Amino acid sequence: MRTPTPSVYIRGLGAYAPERRLTNEEIARHVDTTDEWIRTRSGIGERRIAAPGENPSDMAVKAAEIAIARAGLTKEDIDLVICATMTPDMVIPSTACLVAAKLGLKEVPAFDVGAACSGFIYMLQVGHHMLRAGDYRNVLIVGTEKLSSFVNWQDRNTCVLFGDAAGAAVLSKCDEPYVGILGNVLGSDGSNPELLYCPAGGAARPATPETVANSEHFIRMNGKEVFKLATRVMAASCEKVLAKCGVSLDQVTCVVPHQANARIIETVAKQLNVSMDRIPINLDRYGNTSAASIPLVLEEAYREGRFKHGDYVLLVAFGAGLTWGATLIKWHDAR
Ligand code: ACO
Repeated sequence: MRTPTPSVYIRGLGAYAPERRLTNEEIARHVDTTDEWIRTRSGIGERRIAAPGENPSDMAVKAAEIAIARAGLTKEDIDLVICATMTPDMVIPSTACLVAAKLGLKEVPAFDVGAACSGFIYMLQVGHHMLRAGDYRNVLIVGTEKLSSFVNWQDRNTCVLFGDAAGAAVLSKCDEPYVGILGNVLGSDGSNPELLYCPAGGAARPATPETVANSEHFIRMNGKEVFKLATRVMAASCEKVLAKCGVSLDQVTCVVPHQANARIIETVAKQLNVSMDRIPINLDRYGNTSAASIPLVLEEAYREGRFKHGDYVLLVAFGAGLTWGATLIKWHDAR
């Protein structure tokens, strides 16, 4: 398959995680759980927690500055900012507007994408098409999450799983054909939102003393059902995008999945018949950081030399919504 030019590629990656490490043992001092349970069921050993007053937009700016510098650009070269987050600084305005302002970008368009853990895959698709349409040169996409603010620290079903972080990429155009983002598939199913949701705080159930007393502003999840759906849609999304691009899984150097649960990743690896050494994992150190998870692990894998110029890299995610998606990239380093 030949993609028409211009190609759109990831020109720079950046990641940021707060310093504070919260270990499983610390959580086990406050809720009825154990390090052993958390590691066996999820693969998570610790997660990062944002400092008081450190907001998603602040973490996003840190990741973005690294991505822009690595792209060999300056902030002034960015002409569109997109953020993906399910834990925005506030409901209004968008986190992207706050990030653009904190970066000192004047009057650039900025908006948020709401696709939970699939946010980075959704942003790749949106950024890709906006660049191809011709109006933009360099698009900054940032997944940023402060899940520690939306987790009920009394609920052992959820509080052990999530962490805070941000991951960013600069998308740019280039004239070389068939490089960068080769294909994307996205999907959603909103017919059962209670699988993973915050019951209150939206227009359907605004905040009242009762919603606060009932902890309805925190994340609730049916872990078992989410697990089943995740394993069903992730493998199918990978197969679909590979077929669309005419690339076989054997040609792919790295499969980079959303870091929610090691058992989900292992199940998908089995379904696809991909060995685990082709799958970077960092959820043991960061937990599930939702929209930040893929750029966080992708940046680490790139830095460690797990893929290079010319390699095929397959990204795949699922999240609340439910949403899901996969992107096939032929990695391109501008020289
Ligand atoms: N410590 C000890 N026991 C626990 C804990 C805990 N932290 N959490 C739950 N349990 C208990 C349950 O209460 C249950 O007890 P019971 O049998 O007496 O009722 C038992 O452990 C088994 O619970 P299950 O839910 O069956 O455990 P499971 O093996 O399914 O693992 C988990 C739970 C880790 C949540 C798993 O289902 C999972 O990872 N699901 C997917 C979640 C996910 O990926 N969410 C993110 C989506 S992405 C996004 O958009 C944010």
